[in-house]
Order: sequence, then structure tokens, then C-alpha cells
Amino acid sequence: MKILFYDTKVYDQESFTSELEAYPDVEVKFLKTDLTRNTAELSHGYDAVCAFVNSDIGTRTVEILHENGIRLILMRCAGFNNVDLKTVEKYGIRILRVPGYSPEAVAEHAMGLALTVNRRLHKSYIKVRENDFSLGSLMGFNFHGKTAGIVGTGKIGAAMVRICHGFGMKVLAYDVYKNPDLQEIAEYVSLEELLSQSDLISLHCPLTEDTRHLINRETIRKMKDSVILVNTSRGALVKTEALIEGIRAHKFFGVGLDVYEEETPNVFEDRSDEILEHSVTARLLSFPNVMITSHQGFFTREALSAIARTTLENVRAFESGEPSPNDVTAGM
Ligand code: NAI
Repeated sequence: MKILFYDTKVYDQESFTSELEAYPDVEVKFLKTDLTRNTAELSHGYDAVCAFVNSDIGTRTVEILHENGIRLILMRCAGFNNVDLKTVEKYGIRILRVPGYSPEAVAEHAMGLALTVNRRLHKSYIKVRENDFSLGSLMGFNFHGKTAGIVGTGKIGAAMVRICHGFGMKVLAYDVYKNPDLQEIAEYVSLEELLSQSDLISLHCPLTEDTRHLINRETIRKMKDSVILVNTSRGALVKTEALIEGIRAHKFFGVGLDVYEEETPNVFEDRSDEILEHSVTARLLSFPNVMITSHQGFFTREALSAIARTTLENVRAFESGEPSPNDVTAGM
């Protein structure tokens, strides 16, 4: 089985190379370039391609992959909103993904962002480097005894519920399904109640038509004053304009974002030499109580190994012809 890996960074190459020892029949080539209609041609001579969250696997890309004899698309991520599944199905190409790798990795990052903006760690890091040992503007508040509101209590949200419980917080949860594992440590309430009661709100639901701009002018108005908002899920859960308006109105004690609407051209790219025009990112970064990271919630050793292992197990499932829970189908 020959697989062409698109959009790889050194850390992808390392994590896959160390897992590959257990898969002697798998031969791989790592490319830095991402999979698009312009680069799909490179797949000639391979059996499968491996792609990532920002790959453009639209109709034309899939047609070229099919013309090149590609029988398998391996997504080394959970999401597949960037794939034209109907065309994939039309050509009988199988597509497998990694639905979950390390929920704790993302949940721990969410708490990291919450702590950072609460205790102003992003500011104190810079102050102390400049020999400014004063405490002005660094005062936070205890999470212990406060209320956390977790929106979406699937794998990552559940891990965040446990972390907040461990901090001694009262935990409120909102989800379209109640997770029975959490009944001892979280109380399910309406979204309105969660918004109005929580000192820390952390988003962990997927981006769907129902959740797009879940955080908007109206829902922000329902939040407690001086709330901390953390989003490690998908940028478009939060309407950025409304968020900026809320920050300017001093609604938030702090905002921690691992994802934001405008992130796509930024994610995993070094743009430090560029002059970014019309940048909402820059506007958000201009506020002293906002901390942004660039979609790094998943980025731990454990998660990368799990992604590599599951992707290579997906190759095995393909070769054995067995169905897999990791199959992606057009009806999903
Ligand atoms: P999951 O599928 O285990 O859980 C999602 C939960 O959201 C489910 O319990 C579901 O019932 C709930 N949900 C669905 N629609 C909802 C709605 N309208 N209102 C409230 N809850 C709703 O997913 P998992 O693994 O916990 O991931 C959550 C999200 O985290 C993913 O969708 C993804 O966007 C994001 N993510 C971010 C990463 C990062 O590096 N920052 C890495 C991996 C995932």
C-alpha cells in the first residue's frame, strides 16, 4: 500500500514514522504541500492519500484522485466538512477518519486558556521579562467555588467538566443529549440558565447549522458580567463582531480562543513577515484580556501518536475490507 501524505509538518512525519515500524507493508511519502485540485495530480502511482483539516477535497480534487486510481482517502483528523462526500461515494473511494484522539488534550488546553486570561499569565510573562515585577492589572479571581458552564458534553466537553469539577467549581452543562457519565458532577440546564449563571463558559459542541453563531449579541447579553469565555471548538460558534462589541462593552473578564472565524489562512502557518490587512485577529489581539492560540488544542504527543496509530489501523481496515466505525459516508 503506497500512501501520499499531504500537508505534513515535521511533527506529523515524526509521529507517523515511529508508528510505521509496526506496518511494514505501508510505504509513505510526505509532502509539505496541501491537497487541492492543483496538487491532486501528484497522487499518480499511489493507492491512497492522507489529508488534513484544511485540505480542499472538493469535486475536482476527487475526480483527479479517481483518475489517478486512488481508492482510499485517509483523513488524519475528525472533521470532513472539506470533502465532497457525494463524489467520493460516486467513484467508490473509501474514506476513513480519526473521530477522537485525545479529548483531554483539548480540554486541558481550554482550561489553560481560561487560567491564562483569568490570572493574566500572558501579560505577566511579558512584564517579568521586562523586569517589571509590579502586580498592576494582574488580579484574577478564584475558580474554586465559582460556576463553570460547559456547552457540549461529548468527549472533550466531558473531559472539561471533570477538570472544572476538580478545580472545585460548580458545573452546569448544556447539550442536546445528556451524558449519563456526568450526572454526579454536572447539572444539565437550559442554555439561557447556563449563560446567566456561569463565571466561565467553555464551548465544546460541533459547528452545525444549529450552533453557528451560538454566541452572538443576544446570547452575550444573557451572560453574567465579567464572565470568561473560552472557545476551543470551532471559530464560527462565536460571531466575532458581537464578541468584539462585548469586549469593548467590558462584558468579559477574559476571552480565550484557540479557534476563531478568520483563522483558516493562519492555521499552522508562519505569517510573521506579512502585513496582515483587514485582520480581525489583530483587532482581537489588541485587547489586553484576550488570549489567542492557533488551533493547538489537539497538539500533544499523546494525541499525535493516537492520530498516527488510528490512521494506520484505518489502512488495515481498508486492506481487510472490513467495515469500520471510522468510515465516513455521504449520509453523515
Ligand atoms: P463529540 O461529538 O464527542 O461531542 C460533541 C457534543 O456536542 C455532543 O455531546 C453533542 O450532542 C453536542 N452537540 C451537538 N449539537 C449541539 C447543540 N446544538 N447544542 C449543544 N450541544 C450540541 O465531539 P468532541 O470530540 O467532544 O469534539 C467537540 C468539538 O471540538 C469538535 O466538534 C471540534 O469542533 C472541536 N475540536 C477542536 C480541536 C482543537 O484542536 N481545538 C481538536 C478536536 C476537536
